[in-house]
Amino acid sequence: MQRSPVGKLLLFGATGDLAQRMLLPSLYGLHADGLLPDGLTITGTARSEHDDASYKKFAKAALDEFLPDDRKDEKALKSFLDRLQYQALDATDMAHYKDLAKKIGDTAGGLAIFLSTAPSLFEPVIKGLESAGLTGETVRIGLEKPLGYDLASSKEINDTVATAFPEDRTFRIDHYLGKETVQNILALRFGNSFFEPVWNAQGIDNVQITVAETVGLEDRAGYYETAGALRDMVANHMLQLVALIAMEPPARFDGTAIRDEKAKVFRSLRQMPPEQVPHETVIGQYGDGAVNGEIVKSYVAELGKPSTTETFVAIKAHVDNWRWQGVPFYLRTGKRMATRRSEIAIQFKPVPHSMFAGRGGLLQPNMLIIRLQPEEYIQLLVMAKEPGLDREGIRLREVPLNLSLDAEFAGTRRRIAYERLLLDLIEGDPTLFVRRDEVEAQWQWIDAIREGWTANDMKPKSYASGTWGPSNAIALTERDGVTWQDD
Ligand code: BG6
Repeated sequence: MQRSPVGKLLLFGATGDLAQRMLLPSLYGLHADGLLPDGLTITGTARSEHDDASYKKFAKAALDEFLPDDRKDEKALKSFLDRLQYQALDATDMAHYKDLAKKIGDTAGGLAIFLSTAPSLFEPVIKGLESAGLTGETVRIGLEKPLGYDLASSKEINDTVATAFPEDRTFRIDHYLGKETVQNILALRFGNSFFEPVWNAQGIDNVQITVAETVGLEDRAGYYETAGALRDMVANHMLQLVALIAMEPPARFDGTAIRDEKAKVFRSLRQMPPEQVPHETVIGQYGDGAVNGEIVKSYVAELGKPSTTETFVAIKAHVDNWRWQGVPFYLRTGKRMATRRSEIAIQFKPVPHSMFAGRGGLLQPNMLIIRLQPEEYIQLLVMAKEPGLDREGIRLREVPLNLSLDAEFAGTRRRIAYERLLLDLIEGDPTLFVRRDEVEAQWQWIDAIREGWTANDMKPKSYASGTWGPSNAIALTERDGVTWQDD
């Protein structure tokens, strides 16, 4: 891959939560390891009034708070802050973009823009950048979600962006793709030969993907209330996980081959007709309860008004192609759940005939567990014989074959997902970014589910905070004789 690093970076939302928690620490991490191009300047912009000096102070405070202690190095901090400058901007005021362009200076050596903004601001921002000459051939743009709230609004945003940035200079971010463990799915599937022969409807009974969070609304009421769990987590992160598990082997590790295969998966997702939606989806909203031993309030109490926004969703999805015919993909995600865990559990088919049955031996189907967070491991549950003379029957037990990535790579620092993505944006590698056709196929499938909720007047069921969601989420799999992997 030909890398073409830019000489300048422009960060929209430079005083926001994402910038403080993720972007500034990630950029610092890259800087401290000597990975940012020499002389790269970082211009922050947002509504807040700051000059360069006060923004540097702001950034320093964020780094003090969010960097792990062992990463703080006074010399590196100082030279990192030297890269920063700031220009206040009202995104809807076209006159402000001239000042922004002046502050950034010459973009002939390349400019990467990181844009995270409310969907309503895409148009003025793109227009403003264009009017100030900040969209030329040497400029690329990274877009943070939410990229719309349905297919129509996402098309509008994509069209707006496309007026100034062709697809090869548009980098749509899904931070799950920046996670090391998510990329490891590719290594597991396509770097080993033994999974592929059983990685299909003949070998696999079902796939479960869980992204459980213990946090609640945090300070994001305005956004979350209009999004809900389906748009916030399924429409992007969880569908990306589905694609990595379900896709055909790409011929090369590059942006075209990988994204072609992912897009095919999204286009193969079975569209749910409205009458099917109540049978294949479950929605919930957290009530009062306790998480990690702490009493927490319900969603509506946190919000301060009644709401029908779902904070939990479970879905039985299908990928309609030869490889996956008849294999359900059960997805679930929620806030205020029992524990924080992102995990993919792949349940293989049972053996065709058990020779142990007549001797009392019980078999469980094999299960492959890919734990993405908080720990990182891959576990294969296999049947083994318990030691003994077997006079009262053969005892078989499921035992784990463990691959702990935490332990195996203990000496290697785990990077924040945004470190990888910001570096790829700066260097121009599109492989881990989401292409327009992927996003639109994702929304098409999501929209059908939402239409089904409306058509059937489905409202979220309450679940106690600190649990695994409403009880009908259990019924969703148990009906098929499948149990959620909850240990
Ligand atoms: C974000 C969602 O995209 O992902 C949040 O907007 C969610 O609601 C977050 O908390 C989860 O990310 P992670 O990396 O903590 O799993």
